[in-house]
Amino acid sequence: MSTPSWLRTHTCGELRAANVGSRVVLNGWVDARRDHGGIYFLDLRDRYGKTQVTLAADVAEATRFSTEWVLAVEGTVVARDAANLNRERDTGAIEVRAERVTVLAPSRVPPFEVLDQLDTAVETRLRHRYIDLRRAPLQHNLLHRARFISAMRRAFEDQGFAEIETPILTRATPEGARDYLVPSRVHPGEFYALPQSPQIFKQLLMVAGFDRYFQVARCFRDEDLRADRQPEFTQLDMEMSFIDEERIFAVWETVLTRTFKEALGVDLQTPFPRLSWDESMERYGVDKPDTRFGLELVDLASWAADSDFAVFKDALGTGGRVLGLVVPGGGDRLSRKDLTALEELAKTFGAKGLAWWKAGADGGAGPLARFAAGPRAAALMAAAGAADGDILLTAAGLAPKARRILGELRVHLGRKLGLVKPGWNLLWVTHFPMFEHDEEAGRWFSAHHPFTSPVGDLDDVPADLGVLRSRAYDLVMNGWELGSGSIRIHRQDVQARVFDLLGISAQEQRAKFGFLLEALAHGAPPHGGFAVGLDRIVALTLGLDSIRDVVAFPKTASASDLLCEAPSPVSPSQLAEVHIAPSGRALALGGTGASAAAPTGGTSPSSESPV
Ligand code: AMO
Ligand code: AMP
Repeated sequence: MSTPSWLRTHTCGELRAANVGSRVVLNGWVDARRDHGGIYFLDLRDRYGKTQVTLAADVAEATRFSTEWVLAVEGTVVARDAANLNRERDTGAIEVRAERVTVLAPSRVPPFEVLDQLDTAVETRLRHRYIDLRRAPLQHNLLHRARFISAMRRAFEDQGFAEIETPILTRATPEGARDYLVPSRVHPGEFYALPQSPQIFKQLLMVAGFDRYFQVARCFRDEDLRADRQPEFTQLDMEMSFIDEERIFAVWETVLTRTFKEALGVDLQTPFPRLSWDESMERYGVDKPDTRFGLELVDLASWAADSDFAVFKDALGTGGRVLGLVVPGGGDRLSRKDLTALEELAKTFGAKGLAWWKAGADGGAGPLARFAAGPRAAALMAAAGAADGDILLTAAGLAPKARRILGELRVHLGRKLGLVKPGWNLLWVTHFPMFEHDEEAGRWFSAHHPFTSPVGDLDDVPADLGVLRSRAYDLVMNGWELGSGSIRIHRQDVQARVFDLLGISAQEQRAKFGFLLEALAHGAPPHGGFAVGLDRIVALTLGLDSIRDVVAFPKTASASDLLCEAPSPVSPSQLAEVHIAPSGRALALGGTGASAAAPTGGTSPSSESPV
């Protein structure tokens, strides 16, 4: 077969001064078109860039086209004169003088222009995502994502990891979110669950002897969405046998240093710092500290114990804490108005107040000043590590709340006062609590997941399960949780004991996890693993707040796909096939023959699924 004459010889980002004189064919979309008295210009765009094309009147008039039409342009590369060079563009030294233009596909008038900056409503953009994705910033994001995944894959493979796929149609895995369910046609009344993560399967792969597994794994969680969450998202998931925490950290430090170098040109320092959960909470008030700035929390108990301030005394008397945050030079940097606003912000995190003090050996100023007279002032400065003119903010109350309040204020102030130094501060937070108490449910839950190994054995379990620590760890970067993992329980008796402590009866254990307990009884090696939220790390490394901008076809905050209108009603006959009684809405649609694969035009997507 002969080569069609319209096939491109170069991409739209490729031609340079060295190509001047060549005959070329370009294929791409019409980005912009300008008519300059008899000479017509157009920019032809593809994912590699844009090239300016000039058309003489006869060529331009011979073919009709408009923006977003797909063209083949055949012509000669000519140098631009000095006055017309475009230094902002890689192809800015040349243009292509078109001799023939062929329309490969016409286009309707696009719903919005393909511009780098756009204030078009996000719904419109999502509905026409294929046009939104033509924009350079989104192309850049997705190509960065592809480079990132590719670099991570290679780094795992080079360390002897095998990529193995695990099922999508499976049964519930307890990662703590709600499951997406898929009804079975063959087994009336039974359901598959889409995996919240490959957790159990990767552990079974360890029992099977695949001692180094990884997977670019799609996970599904029916939870309330935020900017850093999507109902389906991707994990870079891994598991290893015959290891301890340090072996796992070392693998990830290699993967991430290589990936940051290859995808971003950034050199990371290893080993990443390690911080226990208790220390993180004590110093930063949160379990995902942004360590690009100081402003660490201080314990004021010693001073508060001798103070006359009822709020502080009450807190200490009821098993609580008195914690503080010192803002260096705060007296000059924070106005009274700022302090009032900080107190309001603190209240949104549950604070009753935010007693503050402008530190000064003379007794200082602010609500705490009357408790800091005479020698009490110097004592408070010493307890807080504050200097003259600093502002001390305090939170008194039970530890979790007092820490959280100051932890959140710390992050807020770090940004507001410009204290955050640029950089990628990665660290491991280790030894998380094993269990967390849910007041509403009145019972204990696993802080990570129930397959996580405790620190030490469970022979003598304390009355307060909250003091038990686990071998779970998180990777944190600049105040974000990038990923989580743990050393797993590999002994059946320990696993059954943890289920017991969680209040899962022997019967329920058998029903839900019987296959796992059985596998653990068949020679399970010591093992552990980790999973990084890929969307999250890609968004963060691009400086984006929302993971939606690094997902090709994301869902809205109400979990809708506006492009293909999912979720959508399905016909009563389809429901009958999977043994589900149709709802009123499905019955109303019955006559249309609507199916999941062919969304009904004009039906607005809704979260009230008929299933
Ligand atoms: P975990 O539930 O902590 O651990 O998830 C690991 C990482 O996945 C990312 N992530 C999300 N990203 C986008 N949207 C979501 N809805 C979402 N939920 C989680 C986060 C998170 O840190 N099986 C364990 C890992 C293990 O123990 O090996 C697990 O899934 O970045
Ligand atoms: P009150 O005695 O409630 O009027 O509070 C006196 C001061 O203490 C005010 O500045 C409050 O903002 C502050 N305050 C009240 N409760 C707390 C608390 N739990 N922690 C820190 N400051 C508080």
